[in-house]
Amino acid sequence: MCDAEAALREGRGLLAAARGVVVLTGAGVSAESGVPTFRGEEGLWKRYRAEDLATPAAFREDPRLVWEWYAWRRETVEGCRPNAAHLALARLALERSDVTLVTQNVDGLHEAAAREEAGDADPSSALPLELHGSLFRVRCTRCSRREAHRGPVDASSEQTLPRCPSCRELLRPDVVWFGESLPSDVVEAAFGEARTAGLCLVVGTSARVHPAASLPLAVREAGGTVVEVNPADTALTARADLVLRGPAGRILPSLVEEGPV
Ligand code: OAD
Repeated sequence: MCDAEAALREGRGLLAAARGVVVLTGAGVSAESGVPTFRGEEGLWKRYRAEDLATPAAFREDPRLVWEWYAWRRETVEGCRPNAAHLALARLALERSDVTLVTQNVDGLHEAAAREEAGDADPSSALPLELHGSLFRVRCTRCSRREAHRGPVDASSEQTLPRCPSCRELLRPDVVWFGESLPSDVVEAAFGEARTAGLCLVVGTSARVHPAASLPLAVREAGGTVVEVNPADTALTARADLVLRGPAGRILPSLVEEGPV
């Protein structure tokens, strides 16, 4: 048996034995769906300056430009389908009540996978805690009203940008920008699960952005095991108990399901 097969078998054993599993995902889980990551060669933060687009100051300065970027990201993602990794994680979370999905992604692909795998059943146990918000929600810049928001955004001028149905003030994407806090209820729920989890499965994140990157460390501190799935080394690799090298779309179906390794 080669090293990769042995590692996969070990991962299966750890997953089966663990009571309480927190799965933390990052941009890499959506890479095979065609969604760009942030820090790779083709990463979004190489092509665009974060401070020009993903900060409250940038939105105050030029809401049209910021909306134009988010409208483009939404369009890109709307053309993408969940891949084998999202679907495998959705099946795992639907089958096991002790599995919690936590994502840094704003692309809605875990939710799409949950709905696809659940069929006519209730998908809610496979819906992720979204630490960084969602491209498909908006929130009012004045009254903080939040709502789901899909479809195209006309960012051709400030006058055509989406407005709050209650107070008519500008709506903004309900995502976490640089310099902003994460939604505290979501963070508390994720770390609450981490403190009692036996295993943290970390998929497709460079583990450089906190507090998300602290989640596996919280599992470890509480005595749990950390398994990383990533084709490359990350800030977490040295502290992971097991590293499964390769693309999430190949590793995850075989990690969470029976069958030949
Ligand atoms: P990054 O772009 O920093 O890292 C993506 C990770 O995915 C890297 O470790 C890659 O090696 C890995 N990867 C690439 N292809 C993969 C594949 N097919 N399967 C598995 N892994 C793969 O993205 P994140 O870590 O998610 O925050 O970035 C964290 C946060 O930084 C984002 O949520 C965003 C950004 O600033 C906000 O916007 C608030």
